[in-house]
Amino acid sequence: MSTAVVDRTAPVEHPVLDVLANRWSPRAFDPETPIDEEKLSRALEAARWSPSASNSQPWRLIVARRGTELHDRIHASLMGFNQAWAGNSAVLIVALAETATAEGTAITHATYDLGQSIAHLSVQAHYDGLVVHQMSGFEPEKIRAIAGLDERFVPMTVIALGDLGDASALPEPLQQREVSPRVRRPIHETVVLSA
Ligand SMILES: Cc1cc2nc3c(=O)[nH]c(=O)nc-3n(C[C@H](O)[C@H](O)[C@H](O)COP(=O)(O)O)c2cc1C
Repeated sequence: MSTAVVDRTAPVEHPVLDVLANRWSPRAFDPETPIDEEKLSRALEAARWSPSASNSQPWRLIVARRGTELHDRIHASLMGFNQAWAGNSAVLIVALAETATAEGTAITHATYDLGQSIAHLSVQAHYDGLVVHQMSGFEPEKIRAIAGLDERFVPMTVIALGDLGDASALPEPLQQREVSPRVRRPIHETVVLSA
């Protein structure tokens, strides 16, 4: 079974951009194909042009290509349930929130802005035929040790990025998750007040 032929398009209530409906978070990554550097640059460019409060741009990224010691060390920072699959990704990216300026002033919307920036990265990458899977299941202290981070930078997620792989190569329980239905709360339960 290959996920490449599985339709993971969201069953939307209303039509949205194809790239939004088609984006999903696979665990099967192609372990061979190196990252297309142009596509990676485009994803980083999309992140760069995300909006942020007062244009503070409170995001920083650690970018590690498969086969490097940095990729290995970031992979080792993941929780076991993520280590099981994410090592195959061509790139692991650590998303860091800049929660305070160098002078110590809090950047209150840092995590909001970082998330939006990664959303832009993710949509651009999927548009270009790559796949992206964000993870909060990792040990931030290991990332701190790898990068020697100042306290004001908070590792929020590790992101697997690369080409889609073959789901049959995944451990059995994870194979099922590659084809399980994609679900969301309905819009009317999300809009809590409307006039
Ligand atoms: C901030 C964040 C943290 C996540 N952490 C993990 C994780 O640690 N492991 C994992 O397998 N998936 C993780 N996910 C993926 C979500 O489970 C996934 O996005 C969600 O189930 C919706 O599926 P979809 O992205 O395919 O639409 C994370 C996603 C986000 C945005």
